[in-house]
Amino acid sequence: SIDISTLTRQTGLTTIDSGFVNTASTRSAITFIDGEKGILRYRGYPIEQIAQKSSFLETAWLLIYGELPSASELDEFDTRIRRHTLLHEDLRRFFDALPTNAHPMSVLSSGVSALSTYYQDSLSPKDPAQVEISTIRLLAKLPVMAAYAHKKSIGQAFLYPDNSLSFVDNFLKLNFGTLAEPYEVNPVVSRALERLLMLHEDHEQNASTSTVRLVGSTEANLFASVSAGINALFGPLHGGANEAVLSMLGEIQASGEGVEKYVERVKNKEHGVRLMGFGHRVYKNYDPRAKLVKESAHEVLAALGVKDDLLDIAQELEHIALNDDYFKERKLYPNVDFYTGVIYKAMGFPTRMFTVLFAIGRLPGWVAHWREMNEDPATKIGRPQQLYIGSPARDFPAR
Ligand code: ACO
Repeated sequence: SIDISTLTRQTGLTTIDSGFVNTASTRSAITFIDGEKGILRYRGYPIEQIAQKSSFLETAWLLIYGELPSASELDEFDTRIRRHTLLHEDLRRFFDALPTNAHPMSVLSSGVSALSTYYQDSLSPKDPAQVEISTIRLLAKLPVMAAYAHKKSIGQAFLYPDNSLSFVDNFLKLNFGTLAEPYEVNPVVSRALERLLMLHEDHEQNASTSTVRLVGSTEANLFASVSAGINALFGPLHGGANEAVLSMLGEIQASGEGVEKYVERVKNKEHGVRLMGFGHRVYKNYDPRAKLVKESAHEVLAALGVKDDLLDIAQELEHIALNDDYFKERKLYPNVDFYTGVIYKAMGFPTRMFTVLFAIGRLPGWVAHWREMNEDPATKIGRPQQLYIGSPARDFPAR
């Protein structure tokens, strides 16, 4: 057998694959997707069963360590995470330096990047004990920083984490609690948020996870790698789509032009308008996560007594698109982002927090991939080829 770099050198042949449509960068044992059939499994377990039976931290353990935890392993994992939620006081003040109107995703990626300045004792990807403690620190502190990004944007005081609460309830309290009044977690909101976070936990080599792996392939630390992943997730073609969907639904509502007119504009590719929350590189069938999110949207809005016209607009959009040849021919179906925004809005999150919620959900997947890559002896630094199309060699002008 001959390895791929030798073959490339010997033949001088390079494949160009813009967008990596058919280039696998790694083997992975974490997540399986069959995009044609609409199947998603974490470590072999169907996403539908995970969403129904598991919890966020149990699924995080499954993704990171490969098997479901025992009751005592899960308990210990949960306790360790609760014990690491506090941010260093200087890091709390770090948020003061950023402008109030900063996008919470920018605040989050800066905060995660700053973690490597506070935890210089756990930056080595080669030392298992350091990998372990940086995993716990990141899982514990990311939701706290995310909540501070929210509090900062609305000008409210930051709360300290309440470690008597579960992962999700603590996060809700940090976002919606105030110093003035006691805060009661609504169990409907809590369970629904937990379910949404679980649905986002991993999705194999998507743009942000590939970014985490690429940065990590240089042996960069976990905080630096995940901070890069957060920035990749920010874009509207990736995680930023959940925010873009709600803006799109709001625009349709405000314009009064009607859903059919909007769909026509999308089909005519007017000013690059796309149906946000539709289409996927891998799914050429209904995204299994979108199905579950759609069910949740109805349940949560009903349980909270919220009536939102945007949900009606979303359903009408979906109905029209699924029956239209443009979308049928291109196999464009709702993706996970299509209905999440309506739920997050009903829960009280501002639109600019939606992608931050995605980041909290995706964190275990990023960590699992970063660790899998570092444990794999076949890992090499990620370094794509290019086809040079610039000027041939020429002499610099005489001076
Ligand atoms: N609305 C309208 N047309 C679309 C859409 C859409 N949302 N998505 C793809 N198309 C069309 C393209 O215009 C293209 O048509 P053409 O051949 O006539 O030019 C065809 O479908 C194929 O599209 P590509 O851009 O080649 O598909 P690709 O796999 O590269 O893109 C992507 C996937 C980025 C997700 C795309 O579908 C998109 O932009 N969707 C909207 C943004 C979105 O919802 N992103 C979230 C993705 S899921 C996630 O990250 C969690």
